[in-house]
Amino acid sequence: MARLVVATGNPGKLKEMEAYLVELGWELTLKPEQLEIEETGDSFAENACLKASQVAEATGEWAIADDSGLEVDALDGAPGVFSARYGKTDSERIERLLNALGNELNREARFVCAIAIARPDGTIALQAEGICPGRILHAPRGTGGFGYDPIFYVPEQSQTFAEMPAAVKHRISHRGRAFQALLPQFQSLSAETWGQGE
Ligand code: IMP
Repeated sequence: MARLVVATGNPGKLKEMEAYLVELGWELTLKPEQLEIEETGDSFAENACLKASQVAEATGEWAIADDSGLEVDALDGAPGVFSARYGKTDSERIERLLNALGNELNREARFVCAIAIARPDGTIALQAEGICPGRILHAPRGTGGFGYDPIFYVPEQSQTFAEMPAAVKHRISHRGRAFQALLPQFQSLSAETWGQGE
């Protein structure tokens, strides 16, 4: 079975990726703990590519990375690639975002997720992006999920990410959509490279 190193030290993220890639038969492993990669890119795609490339080069194995965050139209796309660094805790990040928006009427927003897969020499083999459009509420709703989930309302489902059953979020979220876009490309790559995934 071919190995794919996940550019994260977070076992939760590894499990989540395993769930999306379960059919493909790759063995996913965490990146070496001492390998730190700074997210210096200006876009989610740039960050996903630089994380995947650096982990692939350092380990000499295939690597996968994702980068995601929330873009709010009335804040010119903020917090964007700074979503994780927008506050110290989830509640601080939510409070800062709600304060920044105040009573602004335009509450359109979207979650974006970029994924990149790098070859063992660090070159990028595949890229995909998923977007989930929604609106920022005036106050949190729901107890599930993480991050900005309680203030992100998805009109298509009439629920916030935090109110949705996990299986629904898994399918319609930016991450779910990015993996759905990646899967067919990844299947062809696997078939070409390893004669698997058909
Ligand atoms: P990363 O891609 O793991 O670096 O995530 C970036 C940040 O974006 C996270 O720390 C969260 O604050 C936010 N984020 C990304 N995806 C989600 C989501 O599905 N729900 C809520 N917040 C998210």
